[in-house]
Amino acid sequence: MAVADAAARSRIANIELAAEGERRIAWVARHSPVLNRLARERLGDGALRGKRVAVVVHLEAKTAYLTTLLADAGAEVVAAGSNPLSTQDSVCAALVRRGIEVHARHGASPDEFTTDLLDVAEKAPQIVIDDGAELTRRIVEHRPELAVRLEGVTEETTTGVARLRALQDAGLLTFPAIAANNARCKHMFDNPHGTGQTALTAILRLTNLSAAGKRFCVVGYGWVGRGLARRAEGYGGRVTVVELDPVQALRAHMDGYRVAPLAQAVEDADFVVTATGTTAAVTADVFPHLKDRVILANAGHHDREIDVGALGDGVEVRAGVVRHGVDGKRVYVLVDGALVNIAGGDGNPIEIMDLSFSVQALSAHHLASGGVPPGLNAFPEQLDREIAHTKLATLGIELDEPSAAQRQFAAGWST
Ligand SMILES: NC(=O)c1ccc[n+]([C@@H]2O[C@H](COP(=O)([O-])OP(=O)(O)OC[C@H]3O[C@@H](n4cnc5c(N)ncnc54)[C@H](O)[C@@H]3O)[C@@H](O)[C@H]2O)c1
Repeated sequence: MAVADAAARSRIANIELAAEGERRIAWVARHSPVLNRLARERLGDGALRGKRVAVVVHLEAKTAYLTTLLADAGAEVVAAGSNPLSTQDSVCAALVRRGIEVHARHGASPDEFTTDLLDVAEKAPQIVIDDGAELTRRIVEHRPELAVRLEGVTEETTTGVARLRALQDAGLLTFPAIAANNARCKHMFDNPHGTGQTALTAILRLTNLSAAGKRFCVVGYGWVGRGLARRAEGYGGRVTVVELDPVQALRAHMDGYRVAPLAQAVEDADFVVTATGTTAAVTADVFPHLKDRVILANAGHHDREIDVGALGDGVEVRAGVVRHGVDGKRVYVLVDGALVNIAGGDGNPIEIMDLSFSVQALSAHHLASGGVPPGLNAFPEQLDREIAHTKLATLGIELDEPSAAQRQFAAGWST
């Protein structure tokens, strides 16, 4: 698509920001060895040529780089963000300058966000790379006739996989879908290492406060929560975990953390960080238990893990930090309760997203190659291994092959 054509079809904030977006994308390209090696080579076989692909993932530089890779492979790509607060306008501008259609602006209202996604749906994508099932669920709800034509969806995150599973239970997942989040090369690195690190650093950078000696309340001890707790502890923080699942709670206990119900856990917390993947994790009934000057932040997919609306109007006291008053206490919320590492930072590290987006690129390629049945599918184990092998090779790390005796034992039952 010509640049003028892409610009005419797109809805972005300002095309003049393209140069800055290009610089950001170039930095990503330099630090993405797996995408550059394995994904580029695999996508080069023509399976994606001429396919209409929608990318609806937090629209910052790493996602933009994935988008350019798909376009280079001959796909007709249209992109949108999965949360208006994480969209970077410069990156959108750079994509449009490269001839890619984009519907995203930082800070778009909920209605504008929905309009952008429905405009993307309007392109009748054959393949969707989604985050939180933000596009997929809207296609099913608003444009069911387009769902029938979907060749496949590949889903980035825990919350989206849960939504796809719910669609399947409702008999509405009539097209192939791949749970990319559940690939080992995704959730074992992105969720704990990527988000664990970047949510913590975003909180500390936004507030410019110290973590050492502070009390952290981590709500949700899944993949992300475990990463958060470990990093907070690494910074010298003292961690209390809140869980609903008794097994995860027991795990947190055995990992050495205090475990308590939310109302108790927040009473002495300096930072409360949510990572439950659902909504309404921290609601009005808990506010009276919060400590004066507590910092609330969210690392999960939804802006609604913390009920920011119930805190009433606030005052921005520092970029990305809003003070609310509750019973005479000061409660500070970071980036309106959106994913703090992406809306309040640059998201997960590039090397981590190199793995996650290699999963997504190979997943899209797998869908485009055909043969994936309708319903929710696992990411192929062989591809997971290839991604890990490639990453290890780029690090100069070699592996042993299993010996004949090891293979024989693994294949048998009586030895
Ligand atoms: N910010 C990012 O860059 C990023 C990256 C990866 C995943 N995510 C998102 O983070 C969220 C968590 O992902 P995950 O992989 O850790 O999920 P997970 O399913 O592994 O863990 C969530 C945990 O929260 C617990 N939980 C649910 N509701 C709770 C509640 N009200 N109170 C206490 N505990 C509760 C669950 O029992 C579970 O153990 C998801 O929304 C996911 O999409 C964000």
